[in-house]
Amino acid sequence: MQEVKWVGPLKVFSGRRSRYLGQSVCADLGVAPGECDIFKFANDNTFVQVGENVRSCDVFVLQTSCPPVDESLMELLILIDALRRASAERITAVLPYYPYVRSDKKDQPRVAITARLVADLVHTAGADRVMTVDLHAAQIQGFFSIPLDHLTAGPLLADYVLRLGLERPVVVATDAGTAKRALTFARRLGAPLAVMEKERFGNTERAAVVGMIGDVVGREAIIVEDEVSTGGTLSEAVQVLRDRGAAAVYACATHPVLAGPAATRIAESLLAQVLVTDTVPIGQDKRDILGDRLKVLSVAPLLAEAVRRIHSGESISSLYSY
Ligand code: R5P
Repeated sequence: MQEVKWVGPLKVFSGRRSRYLGQSVCADLGVAPGECDIFKFANDNTFVQVGENVRSCDVFVLQTSCPPVDESLMELLILIDALRRASAERITAVLPYYPYVRSDKKDQPRVAITARLVADLVHTAGADRVMTVDLHAAQIQGFFSIPLDHLTAGPLLADYVLRLGLERPVVVATDAGTAKRALTFARRLGAPLAVMEKERFGNTERAAVVGMIGDVVGREAIIVEDEVSTGGTLSEAVQVLRDRGAAAVYACATHPVLAGPAATRIAESLLAQVLVTDTVPIGQDKRDILGDRLKVLSVAPLLAEAVRRIHSGESISSLYSY
């Protein structure tokens, strides 16, 4: 007879910059946020102390990637280490926005594959499982030799767009790499797909649209992206779509990285609305710049449902396909 592994009570902890999301996940689950003390010593070393008993518990540690990225990552690793040494039975690292997600291949000479390094670090620190949302490339799942649950915010974003009641929507991928994600989104909307050809110049934020397949004339174009970083791709794509006759342009992106000039670029563009989730916190300064054009949907219910099902041993496959 197969031995049944006992998994103890559920606990959810969050790193400092992910508490806004951790609290919502805990509220959804009806559990109190796990207590832990995190601060920096005068010498810049991070101190983490778990403030409650976690012995034999099923622990979820939530930390998203946001500036300062390296500090957030280190905090996650130390928190996992502290939980492991406190005898947690099982630790699941919940990474709503995966750190270094775009550094997933050796596409230039002598560069690191940092997304793989992150996987090794999370595993080595003591995580038994990983949960994340909308990876830049699904193949990053293979960087882990422990179970990884890859959730998607696609249905959340698509269903909001459906409620807008657009007359002739067309879903737009800004490059071939995002075409599959955009196609799934288009199917949910019952809309056609257009695909752009994008060129990026070295490691700069400059991106240019050099071609497009598909008809956008007189249609409401919905750009589907995994993330908005500097807003370079988005502002360029919006201009091209309007120049080619799109009636209006919307954008959906799971991760609102909104680095550097992104908020201003979007505000100065002809974008009708940008729809994002709360996998990355958005500062008030950026919210002020974007005003009503920004719509933020929460992934907390999605994460909470995945946590609940993992804890109770139920299937979560319906949360990563649509
Ligand atoms: C890249 O391939 C991604 O899918 C996004 O297009 C990219 O991250 C957007 O970056 P930025 O906003 O800096 O143009």
